[in-house]
Amino acid sequence: MSPARQRVLSGMQPTGRMHIGHYFGALRNYVRMQDEYEAFYCVVDLHALTTFEQPAELWPNVTAMVADWIAAGLDPERATIFVQSQVPEVTELHWILSAVTPISWLERVPTFKEKSEQHPDNVNYALLGYPVLQAADILIYGASRVPVGEDQLAHLELTREIARRFNHKYGATFTEPKAELTETPRVMGLDGATKMSKSRNNYIPMTGDPDEVRKLIKSAVTDITRAYRSDPGHPEQCNVCQLHRVFSPDDFESIWEGERTATTGCVDVKGLLADRVIEYFAPMRERRLEIDARDGYVEEVLAAGAARAATVARETLGRVKEAVGLHQHQ
Ligand code: TRP
Repeated sequence: MSPARQRVLSGMQPTGRMHIGHYFGALRNYVRMQDEYEAFYCVVDLHALTTFEQPAELWPNVTAMVADWIAAGLDPERATIFVQSQVPEVTELHWILSAVTPISWLERVPTFKEKSEQHPDNVNYALLGYPVLQAADILIYGASRVPVGEDQLAHLELTREIARRFNHKYGATFTEPKAELTETPRVMGLDGATKMSKSRNNYIPMTGDPDEVRKLIKSAVTDITRAYRSDPGHPEQCNVCQLHRVFSPDDFESIWEGERTATTGCVDVKGLLADRVIEYFAPMRERRLEIDARDGYVEEVLAAGAARAATVARETLGRVKEAVGLHQHQ
């Protein structure tokens, strides 16, 4: 691994099995970038604590997600895969960064407003500080690129502002990172109305059982203006047709034409989509089954990842403490 290579870092909350929205929103870029960059990918379990309150589910969710990451093509030899809380230096950096972050910056972050509305009875302190911990994740590993979905752009901007402010106050310490978005348009959920997400239960699992995937796609909301099979369809308003753009890049236009002319019906395009989704993810599903059969493998990957990540985190934190005047015993 050449030290001159730039670093990439990203994190995801431990939501368990990945869905196709995760894959096209960010995971595909994780895989692609592991060759070009020195890659760090973490499961942000500390971030999850801001809204998640089921201790017994947390670790199973972490390991299921990492198994899907590896199944999707992340290679633990090339990428450092780890759990955020297992490199606790990041929480120390979070504190130091919080001292250069005006509250007004945090209050205007859209996700803070959204989450406060979603959980009005749990608007906790960590929810406000969430983007500061995220900034610490990125800055402690010196990442210059951060593959994320577009919903994370405000957090990335804040990370840059925090880095800039720190550098201005204490001297050049941090790299300002840039977001790396995928080209795939936002993947909508089975309801066709909101973004695909686990919490809304409107998702298609990435390594799901073929029958399950078929059943879920059958249940998807399509073009609601089309009452009868003989009515012309509106592919622009049909989420199943939109998904064909992703899974049928070579022939989605003819699929759409079939809908417009009512040559085909929703059942046909759904069946075809299910075939394509199942085929696309078949190699990953197979890898996932192999990973599940290797007892303790994911835990081993995470232990090695945490050890590697800690080396980088300690080095950065040492420089930061020195910069702000926190004296350390040698
Ligand atoms: N906030 C991100 C999300 O909800 C997760 C995250 C935490 C993250 N730390 C990060 C993403 C660092 C990129 C880089 O998806």
